[in-house]
Amino acid sequence: MTIPFDLKNSIRTIPDYPKPGIMFRDITTMLGDARAFRCAIDELVQPWSGAKIDKVAGMEARGFILGGAVAHQLSAGFVPIRKKGKLPHTTVKIAYSLEYGLDEMEIHDDAVVAGERVILVDDLIATGGTATGAIQLLKQIGADVVAACFVIDLPALGGAKKIEDLGVPVRTLMSFDGH
Ligand code: PRP
Ligand code: MG
Repeated sequence: MTIPFDLKNSIRTIPDYPKPGIMFRDITTMLGDARAFRCAIDELVQPWSGAKIDKVAGMEARGFILGGAVAHQLSAGFVPIRKKGKLPHTTVKIAYSLEYGLDEMEIHDDAVVAGERVILVDDLIATGGTATGAIQLLKQIGADVVAACFVIDLPALGGAKKIEDLGVPVRTLMSFDGH
């Protein structure tokens, strides 16, 4: 898609963080710019205005910021997918790999009613480990995952393809070359 020039410009790149060779795409500069934040949320929401979306799911931590705003704008509920040990009720868990590490995430097993239409929102897709794990959790508790939406794609890492292989369409607002 065509992205507004200033939206991509609002993302800050930190070389060699959190380890050498990683170009960290920092969304805090976008979040702190009222116009850029509004633009990102409007672009994420745009395909779904008028559609029946029951819930938006977001992954801790950055997915909470964007997913919460998207859910509010769609008048949908919000479902947190959290790193292990943070959710108090009965959960379903999955181990997943990140671009630079391993972790475990979980979801409340009653977070959706079977068949509810859910969109997944996160800031960035790299290897796709986080998003594919989240989609598996959502499917396990009965969600109909209708799309996965991200501000940033890193196409060199192949994450979008892994999500599409799960039968979930992917939408991203911009991409960066390399890592
Ligand atoms: C980052 C980013 C995505 C994920 C993408 O989260 O916010 O959620 O990595 O990587 P992947 O496609 O390779 O899984 P991270 O867990 O590093 O940090 P956060 O808690 O700040 O969101
Ligand atoms: Mg994250």
